[in-house]
Amino acid sequence: MRTIHITASRSYDVVLDEGLLSRAGRLTSEVLPPRRVMVVSDETVFAFFGRIVMDSYKDAGFETAAFTFEPGEHSKTLATLGGVLNALARHGFTRGDCVAALGGGVTGDLAGFAAAVYARGIPFVQLPTTLLAAVDSSIGGKTAVNLDAGKNLVGAFWQPSLVLCDTAVMRDLPMPLMAEGAAEMIKHAVLADPELFARLASTDTAARADQLEDTLARNLAIKRSCVEADERDTGVRQLLNLGHTIGHAIEIVSDHAFTHGQAVAIGLYRITRAAERMGYARDGLSGEIRQAMTANNLPHECDLTADDLLPTAKLDKKRAGSTTTLVVPRDIGECELKRVNDAELGCWFRAGCG
Ligand SMILES: NC(=O)c1ccc[n+]([C@@H]2O[C@H](COP(=O)([O-])OP(=O)(O)OC[C@H]3O[C@@H](n4cnc5c(N)ncnc54)[C@H](O)[C@@H]3O)[C@@H](O)[C@H]2O)c1
Ligand SMILES: [Zn+2]
Repeated sequence: MRTIHITASRSYDVVLDEGLLSRAGRLTSEVLPPRRVMVVSDETVFAFFGRIVMDSYKDAGFETAAFTFEPGEHSKTLATLGGVLNALARHGFTRGDCVAALGGGVTGDLAGFAAAVYARGIPFVQLPTTLLAAVDSSIGGKTAVNLDAGKNLVGAFWQPSLVLCDTAVMRDLPMPLMAEGAAEMIKHAVLADPELFARLASTDTAARADQLEDTLARNLAIKRSCVEADERDTGVRQLLNLGHTIGHAIEIVSDHAFTHGQAVAIGLYRITRAAERMGYARDGLSGEIRQAMTANNLPHECDLTADDLLPTAKLDKKRAGSTTTLVVPRDIGECELKRVNDAELGCWFRAGCG
């Protein structure tokens, strides 16, 4: 068992261990009074783990309720948010009660935002069940739902009171969900941890399984350092966008034929290749990144050209006026923020292609 402490506007622990879902009630009661808890989960995840978690909360003295919704990004909407809020009200939840987000990033973002706005804010606990949620979305306090006009357009910064990451769940994930999380883990490793990068690029699956808890802890340490330095995402936290400028454009232009993780993998490879060609990155770096993608069942290329992607990249909501902040790798563990105008953005996109 490991505990990583995160210091933010609300400070909290992230706990890593086997079998944490069955101890969720007791561990939550150590930080929040055992009153009412609403377990929010998609139907698939609730069918797997709902019973264990609900029983664990009951045993720890909580009064329990559950809200479930159809799995998938299409549920991360104002309508589902309204469903969670009305369920909280129907069960008489007050500020002394809490929400438990049991699931992947969709559940964490949705339940977290419901907790942020219900009664002007009630505590919530993250119980991540995907690798992406464990290493990325469950910490840092970004919560949101989508609008028709775009992803995560309405949300709040609202930190959880506790994050419980059950490593037994992470070990058993189906391959596509492993790959989604691996893309963000490779991104973290490229930002700050050469040893982690070597581990993720290795094809020794047995050794990698043995090191799972340590691998998760290293990822959390990297995300923690960005979040603690810049909780509201106006400075160094933007480093976490590595691979995402090109990646987001690929997701949108391909009409989500590529998943987020696949698109980020291609984006990370392309920005590294561009950095290499433009003399920023060490020779051979993009080849190493390509190998890490392959070892984790991720693509590194697609047919979309710079000209296909640029118009969409220029609409990215993370832009300030007509400049984009790119994250450029120089080596593993050495990346920097670079503000570029539209003409320079075109050069970077073209240099990454083909
Ligand atoms: N808040 C943040 O900082 C942040 C960061 C990155 C991503 N996100 C958000 O996270 C979301 C993506 O997260 P995700 O990939 O976890 O998606 P998800 O929550 O939709 O989960 C993916 C699928 O896996 C299933 N699933 C979940 N756990 C499982 C398990 N243990 N075994 C088998 N199936 C399981 C779910 O039912 C779902 O169908 C996006 O909405 C994205 O915007 C948020
Ligand atoms: Zn991402």
